[in-house]
Amino acid sequence: MYTISVVNQKGGVGKTTTTIACATALHHRDIRVLVIDLDSSMNTTAWCLGRHLEANEASIYDSLVAQKRGAQGEADWPLTNLIEESQLGFDYVPANRDLSAADAELANEPFLLADRLQELDDTLRSGPAPASPDMSSDGPYDFCLIDCPPSLGTLVYVALIASSGLIIPLGADQFSLDGLSQLLTTFRKARRVNPDLEILGLLLNNLDHRYGLTSDLVEELEAAYGDRVFETKVPARARIREAPMGVDILDHASGSDVVEIYNGVVDELLERTGHADPARTPEDADTRTRPQSTAV
Ligand SMILES: Nc1ncnc2c1ncn2[C@@H]1O[C@H](COP(=O)(O)OP(=O)(O)O)[C@@H](O)[C@H]1O
Ligand SMILES: [Mg+2]
Repeated sequence: MYTISVVNQKGGVGKTTTTIACATALHHRDIRVLVIDLDSSMNTTAWCLGRHLEANEASIYDSLVAQKRGAQGEADWPLTNLIEESQLGFDYVPANRDLSAADAELANEPFLLADRLQELDDTLRSGPAPASPDMSSDGPYDFCLIDCPPSLGTLVYVALIASSGLIIPLGADQFSLDGLSQLLTTFRKARRVNPDLEILGLLLNNLDHRYGLTSDLVEELEAAYGDRVFETKVPARARIREAPMGVDILDHASGSDVVEIYNGVVDELLERTGHADPARTPEDADTRTRPQSTAV
């Protein structure tokens, strides 16, 4: 299982949108993907569940905090007990409001999520069918995508320690660029304990080329970060902004360039993680062309 954190300390840059759209595009290719919502605002959970989680329903918080308190007799919540099939077809683990207070509880416990994911992968690989009847099937996952909260606190650090790669969605505005160096400091800190962690790419999102500054900032970013910037750029699209909660964003946008764009993002994601696309034959691959980003 290759785990990817979708990270940016800034809110509203498209972490949740990127997580959901990539999971959907991977799922459309029959690639097994698990989404973990680590944000106490629970946007991904609401998208996957079609409603907000009730306070008495178990979430990733129970898995992390229970593991920490295990010695004190708390109920244990392995991820297999928390995974549910979303209404979009891929599996997910819900978030909970209490996650906003998890930073303090998880201080000095950076390996908790990494251990839980390893435990999950081991369980699924050892078969037969695991505990949760709510999982879409019982095989191991190819990818895990973690939708991170808008911070660079302990919870995000815990996610980075559990990940092999990160995707950084960001807008083409000066504040986004300014925040990058701080984010890269956190990346380097996580890398000291998780040396395999790599930046899969900076994903420019919500681009509006009606503003002259947009193209300048895209160029500036590409000059500074080279091929760490995803070649595919995601423009501002009403089909993305107005997708009703819980719908398949690619079905909703069918017939528009949004489908091609997210397929381009996922092609690059598979390339950058060294995963051949198992759902496509080499003949298909030969005829595929990389979609060009479109100016709005
Ligand atoms: N490419 C895009 N085009 C139009 N709207 C977008 C795009 N990406 C994100 N949005 C919208 O911007 C808002 C913030 O996105 P979201 O994914 O929730 O960001 P984050 O998770 O980083 O806080 C949402 O309303 C979302 O629909
Ligand atoms: Mg979000």
